[in-house]
Amino acid sequence: MEHLHHVYRDEELLCEGVPVRRIAEKVGTPVFIYSRDVIQKHFQKLVDAFRQVETLVCYSVKALGNLAICQVLRDLGAGFDVVSGGELFRALQAGGRAKKIVFAGVGKSARVNPDVDPKTHTYITTGKRETKFGLDLETAERLAAAIPGLTGVRMIGVHVHIGSQITEVTPHLEALKKALAFADRARGLGNPVEWINLGGGFGIHYREVEAPPVSDYADVLQPLIAPSGYRLIIEPGRFIVGNAGLLVSRVLYVKQSGDRRFVICDAGMNDLIRPALYGAWHEVWPVSTPYAKGSPASDLASTPADVVGPVCESADFLARDRMLPPIRDGELLAVFSAGAYGMSMASNYNGRPRPAEVLVSGSLFEVIRTRETWDDLIRGERKVARWD
Ligand code: LLP
Repeated sequence: MEHLHHVYRDEELLCEGVPVRRIAEKVGTPVFIYSRDVIQKHFQKLVDAFRQVETLVCYSVKALGNLAICQVLRDLGAGFDVVSGGELFRALQAGGRAKKIVFAGVGKSARVNPDVDPKTHTYITTGKRETKFGLDLETAERLAAAIPGLTGVRMIGVHVHIGSQITEVTPHLEALKKALAFADRARGLGNPVEWINLGGGFGIHYREVEAPPVSDYADVLQPLIAPSGYRLIIEPGRFIVGNAGLLVSRVLYVKQSGDRRFVICDAGMNDLIRPALYGAWHEVWPVSTPYAKGSPASDLASTPADVVGPVCESADFLARDRMLPPIRDGELLAVFSAGAYGMSMASNYNGRPRPAEVLVSGSLFEVIRTRETWDDLIRGERKVARWD
């Protein structure tokens, strides 16, 4: 059974050729597990789709910044999109070349806000006029007029990023049209504009509902860019790593409270904050199970459950009111599509060490970040000398 880019065989979830159970038993839980193959395939889908114009794919480090992941992408020829000195450091440490790195600090005033509604969650909408990001078009145009008269500054590209998890083509198209028109005006004002950077935002599958294949975007966008002669940059994060990652957690215990079934896990909102922060939906399913998701047998055996973590917040849930098969104390659960904005947004809240990260390739797996220890929790802290 193929499930969100991972496969069940003999009632066991595999990440590529490795049983997820084996990794959890060796490395402990919670653990993020990433498939190198899924990352490579998604990167290749982008390269294949955007063949008609010269395109540089700059992987968005914020989605998942682990050095080994950046290294895999660097080896595939990716550049990097970074938003801070810290992310730049990561990209360089992973072997990234400065000339293939784009830096768009969020607090800076050098990204055009094209005022396009990406039709996604408000918290991940960035390219509308009322969001804090970028320069409105009028201000950008005033700058474009001033820049040729300045020394030490050249305007070589136009950057827009309208939002994340976008599952329609039209908002990207609208943004591109505005970016191209602006780039032409800026060129007319004497700027050597060469690049159009469309940002990231290509949506992925969190459930069976399909995001359009990335070629759908490419097929609509490229014919507009090709005649203009601009080179293209895209900054995908989620599209490359989202489906590649699993968060694997052990069930601490199952509690029946009135008519509600609570499955309490050792992973919580500090490990994966997306459900709590955005109400995001992630597939959750047992790692070892006779029930194929969506099968008649599973439908018969399933009852609603809330899958929750051990953090003292009511928002500490991974899945709510989900139809799940019988689950026992001590079992392993997999949270799917957790590669993007999982570990990169994890925190130590409630004194919880952050999870280990594992990269799988074929029948091999390697720990690419060790689980934090309690000593890590207080690293850099100092008790004060007595003041009284
Ligand atoms: N480029 C820029 C300038 C960005 O701000 C972002 C994401 C990206 C590229 C990558 O976007 P992607 O291809 O991953 O959609 N934490 C949220 C997502 C925040 C995205 C912020 N910017 C979440 O978990 O859904």
